[in-house]
Amino acid sequence: MYGDFAFIYDSLMTDVDYENWYSYIKLILDKYNKNPKSILEMACGTGNISYYFAKDGYDLTCFDLSSDMLSIAYNKLNQFKNVTLLNQNMIDFKINKEFDLIICLCDSINYIIEKEHLLKTFRNVREHLSQNGIFVFDINSYYKLEEIIGNNTFIEDREDIFYIWQNYFDCKDNISHFYLTFFVKEQNGLFRRFHEDHLEKAYKLEEVIELLDMAGFSQIYSYDGFSFKAPNKRSERIHFVCLP
Ligand SMILES: C[S@@+](CC[C@H](N)C(=O)[O-])C[C@H]1O[C@@H](n2cnc3c(N)ncnc32)[C@H](O)[C@@H]1O
Repeated sequence: MYGDFAFIYDSLMTDVDYENWYSYIKLILDKYNKNPKSILEMACGTGNISYYFAKDGYDLTCFDLSSDMLSIAYNKLNQFKNVTLLNQNMIDFKINKEFDLIICLCDSINYIIEKEHLLKTFRNVREHLSQNGIFVFDINSYYKLEEIIGNNTFIEDREDIFYIWQNYFDCKDNISHFYLTFFVKEQNGLFRRFHEDHLEKAYKLEEVIELLDMAGFSQIYSYDGFSFKAPNKRSERIHFVCLP
């Protein structure tokens, strides 16, 4: 669960080009001839993608499980009248509304550890999607979680933030354990230490497609990274486009 990490999340995500991600989603919408009016973003985090949808005037509802992440999103999004922020869980969210586009980005789906919970999430998305709606999400691929993140340790040494990200891939349960230790410089010049553990589940492409199919999606497409090419053995991020 994102706690204190939320408050430095944006400083550590500077290598992610959210504007480009937004443009990719718009390309998907063009490719599938969709012109959504209402949008739901699940696991919006600190609102980095939400910001671009909000700025373009869409009727946007966003939710996240972490109230700390939402508090950062609130600071970014409260200038927009067309945005509603909620504290909900993807697995059992309930919003009395249907949406033309539902998105869930930046490997948030990997945070759902149980397969039956993922099925529940997909069914729930299907129920909240309008008749002509579209569901777009991405995952960290099995290959990335097992081989790239794997059992490796990453260190980042910056002026104000130092962190150690240790990983353990459990190949029995297909779960990637992230052990994160942060040292963050406070106003008094001293560094505060805190720790967070995160889990991401490594799903195989066929597994995700099977669950989407079970959840009632009739058309399911998957793409390598930010392209429109089919995923391959070395795809690190896979986008899914699903139609009811
Ligand atoms: C890697 S962050 C991505 C955040 C955001 N989508 C982005 O693009 O920066 C994963 C997010 O998923 C959220 N999350 C994890 N499990 C969740 C759940 N069951 N329901 C809702 N949000 C969840 C976390 O709180 C976190 O904000």
